[in-house]
Amino acid sequence: MTRKLFVTTALPYANAAFHIGHMMEYIQADIWVRLQRMLGHEVHFVCADDAHGAPIMIAADKAGLTPQEFVGRIAAGRKPYLQGFHIGFDNWHSTDGPENHALAKEIYLALRANGLIATRRIEQFFDPVKGMFLADRYIKGECPKCGAKDQYGDNCEVCGAVYAPTDLKNPYSVLSGATPELRSSEHFFFKLSDPRCVEFLQGWTQDGRLQPEVANKVKEWFSGDGLDDWDISRDAPYFGIEIPDARGKYFYVWLDAPVGYLASLKNLFGRLGLDFDAYLADPDVEQVHFIGKDIVTFHTLFWPAMLKFSGRKVPDHIFVHGFITVSGEKMSKSRGTGISPLRYLELGLDAEWLRYYIAAKLNAHVEDIDFNAEDFVARVNSDLVGKYINIASRAAGFIAKRFGGRLSADLGVEGRTLLDGLRAHRDTVAELYEAREYGKALREIMALADRVNGYVDQHKPWELAKQPGEDAVLHDVCSVCIEAFRVLTVYLKPVLPALAAKVEAFLQIEPLQWHDAARALGSHTIGAYQHLMQRVDTKLLDALFEPPAAPPAPTPGGEALAAEIGIDDFAKVDLRIAKIVAAERVEGSSKLLRLTLDVGEGKTRNVFSGIAGAYQPEDLAGKLTVMVANLAPRKMKFGLSEGMVLAASHADEKAHPGLYVLEPWPGAVPGLRVR
Ligand code: 2FM
Ligand code: ZN
Repeated sequence: MTRKLFVTTALPYANAAFHIGHMMEYIQADIWVRLQRMLGHEVHFVCADDAHGAPIMIAADKAGLTPQEFVGRIAAGRKPYLQGFHIGFDNWHSTDGPENHALAKEIYLALRANGLIATRRIEQFFDPVKGMFLADRYIKGECPKCGAKDQYGDNCEVCGAVYAPTDLKNPYSVLSGATPELRSSEHFFFKLSDPRCVEFLQGWTQDGRLQPEVANKVKEWFSGDGLDDWDISRDAPYFGIEIPDARGKYFYVWLDAPVGYLASLKNLFGRLGLDFDAYLADPDVEQVHFIGKDIVTFHTLFWPAMLKFSGRKVPDHIFVHGFITVSGEKMSKSRGTGISPLRYLELGLDAEWLRYYIAAKLNAHVEDIDFNAEDFVARVNSDLVGKYINIASRAAGFIAKRFGGRLSADLGVEGRTLLDGLRAHRDTVAELYEAREYGKALREIMALADRVNGYVDQHKPWELAKQPGEDAVLHDVCSVCIEAFRVLTVYLKPVLPALAAKVEAFLQIEPLQWHDAARALGSHTIGAYQHLMQRVDTKLLDALFEPPAAPPAPTPGGEALAAEIGIDDFAKVDLRIAKIVAAERVEGSSKLLRLTLDVGEGKTRNVFSGIAGAYQPEDLAGKLTVMVANLAPRKMKFGLSEGMVLAASHADEKAHPGLYVLEPWPGAVPGLRVR
């Protein structure tokens, strides 16, 4: 039976570029989706930017942008990552899109009609300068237990004490420095404590659909006092969706974020002219969410209950994965790890090496995996290239040169037995992918590749080629290799789609489907062998781990000194310390980056800087630099440039490449004059 699958990955916050953790999740889900498609199932695979919430509102404000502009800029940068790593989403949308506004309200109203929404007044800290209520992370003060300064509102990093923000001594707002005031306001709650919710969730979470370790964790939340109601409202100012019949109240970002899964699907169906409501009412549709272990509560309690009690289909599977560390180093959710996925691509590293490596490490459990450079090189070079690619490269030349590209249809008893053995694994391999045991699947496939290489070593085509009268045997042996290579390519295609496409072109065959592993090519003519995949050059990997933007050392000098000036001439140039709040590429220009600079003026400036050849935007954001702050604004093709950032370079840039943006010593703050 053809399965109907609705598959999502977690919606990333629209306040930063992707890091390797995002790519791991997308790769995991993409492999699963590609398997399903190869099996002939129907899949809609969608994602979106998670646009709302206080952090994004605050970041936009700091950058001098509206939240819509801010998230728009982040969204504009998504493509190179998704295309670059061959992630086949059918749609990428935004939780700020009209579909999400409508769906979130619909779901809320249905919950309200079902008696599952309550209101209650709660007391919370309020920043009188910013005019807004403060989440715990925006309040700091002295630890009530040990007195340590600058501790967050919920726990002390020095003594480990856990407390409420109201317990802090001398609390202050991280946003303005002001002393927060306690104020009360009305909040809306989703009554998760309602017996209907508890009963439903106890069933839904424990009926075998969740991974065992996830189900066990969730079980703990039901013991003790049971489930708490969930605070789903935030007061204005807030970037989000206004709650119906409640002016100035907005849905908490986590209320409308998962609704964004449906909104993205609805947006896709709109474009395809398909019936969204009918699809989600179809009991045969399987709804599958891939997520990380940090957001399990939202996906195993709030989200299924929201769907259930608004009369909708509930998720069939929540596939939870662990985190990815890089060389054992934990990743920060906002900063990511030391290696940037975009830099990986720009250095010319093959996207499918990373897909293969990540797949080789993944299993169906909530376990962290580590990206380790040596291990990466070993897996790609010895397994992928050494075992698999090698099969084709050892046989293809003879087929082309000696047999006009034509494969033998006979293959010999031994060859046919080998191939039957390979084909017999197609269900097992598919089942391992289906179960997200990708590491096991790849080990199985590599064991099959070992068998084929054993056959090659035994029959030694390079020797057969030299022996007169052995043409027919040579033909059979090489044809077996090509046929085996084709079967292995079927098995690897979910992980290596671009490589598989190259193989299909080389073999002159239609896009491989899973059932193609079962059939034989027969006497078919293949094309000329073109190199399919390189080995990893460890130098490239070293470059990936190097601190970014380190161009070759320049030759000093080469430029005559400018004419002498007096101190008054110098004083005319107003140099200031500037903070690079945001940096991004400029569409249509390979030279320029658009910098958003904070020069301590209470607003930001827009500056175009010709440094795109030397720096990755994501490496600049957050850094301090020096700018000419009183340079007359200049109108450029891409917009107004309000100043200039200082950088050192050689007069003969071509002969001596290298560009170095200035950075002050630690302690400098935006707005300080350089004199
Ligand atoms: O944790 C996060 O990055 C959230 N933006 C994930 C949201 S997933 C879904 F619910 F939208
Ligand atoms: Zn303390």
